[in-house]
Amino acid sequence: MSHPQQAVSSESAAPANNTVTQTSPRHSVETTSDVPHAREARKSVPESGLRGKVIVITGAGAGIGRATAMRFAEEGAFIAAWDVSPKAGPQLESAIKWAGGDGCFQAVNVTSAEEVESATQAVLERWKRIDVLINNAGIVRDAQLVKWNGSGPESTMSEEMWDSVINVNLKGIFLTTRAVVPHMIRIGGGVILSAASVVGLLGNFGQTNYVASKAGVIGMTRTWARELGRYKIRVNAVAPGFIATDMVKAMPEKVLQAMIARTPLGRAGTPEDVANAYAWLASDQASFIHGAVISVDGGVVIGT
Ligand SMILES: NC(=O)c1ccc[n+]([C@@H]2O[C@H](COP(=O)([O-])OP(=O)(O)OC[C@H]3O[C@@H](n4cnc5c(N)ncnc54)[C@H](O)[C@@H]3O)[C@@H](O)[C@H]2O)c1
Repeated sequence: MSHPQQAVSSESAAPANNTVTQTSPRHSVETTSDVPHAREARKSVPESGLRGKVIVITGAGAGIGRATAMRFAEEGAFIAAWDVSPKAGPQLESAIKWAGGDGCFQAVNVTSAEEVESATQAVLERWKRIDVLINNAGIVRDAQLVKWNGSGPESTMSEEMWDSVINVNLKGIFLTTRAVVPHMIRIGGGVILSAASVVGLLGNFGQTNYVASKAGVIGMTRTWARELGRYKIRVNAVAPGFIATDMVKAMPEKVLQAMIARTPLGRAGTPEDVANAYAWLASDQASFIHGAVISVDGGVVIGT
């Protein structure tokens, strides 16, 4: 993949007559001196402003988190990639560098305040600042609240299933955001983005714990938007629909097909679909987007 900010040679493409091909780091625009509003046409597309920014991404070892790390690397950002599982680390660091960023992998369990605090300090020691936090780490432990087992009702969602999902998906975001925000305030602003889900808006069969966590993420996002706007910290959530990652690939084929059938665009999303939303929300182009929950779901949220 070529680096997005590589300039294209204008010489070989220069047309005859009085036409001028302008090159910008992102694109080329053809203008002629006769074209009305040529001045406007010469304006370049605004930069994302992400080059050189320091981005912390939790759960960056796989799926949406990994795609997001790569997407920000393409923008020339510095990526602190956190994941509870260390196995993706070395490969991810070199992939980030190859894509145009600089990256450092840290084994961090977001449910541990101690690990989150010390990983935050390590990022500050290396890059002196944190500009963007992407709270992406999340897990599922699905079961119905109560099920008819043939002879009677039986509760099937254990306390352990509830606690583990709430710990990672909700408390993890609380701990990480709490650790990072003071440093954003010190540098005069930042961006916090968190993984909600379409099911946090709609509810979902068999996902009491997961839905509660994702509805909680939406609530925290709106609360922090109120609390942190005065410090120029923008806070938003992304609500993905059905995205083809390991988290959903484990589901039975019948369930996968049913989920696609509920998606008006008729396909599963890709991790890159969500990564693009994060990159835009973190960019200067989204400078007035605050307290929002952006659906990236192929239309699932509008219902069937
Ligand atoms: N895939 C979907 O369809 C979908 C839909 C809606 C929302 N989401 C949300 O998007 C996020 C990413 O989902 P995904 O599909 O890429 O998941 P995934 O399972 O592919 O990847 C999740 C990553 O998080 C890491 N992780 C798990 N527990 C952690 C912990 N305690 N500390 C640090 N890292 C931890 C895992 O090791 C893994 O690398 C999640 O929050 C998920 O709830 C996903």
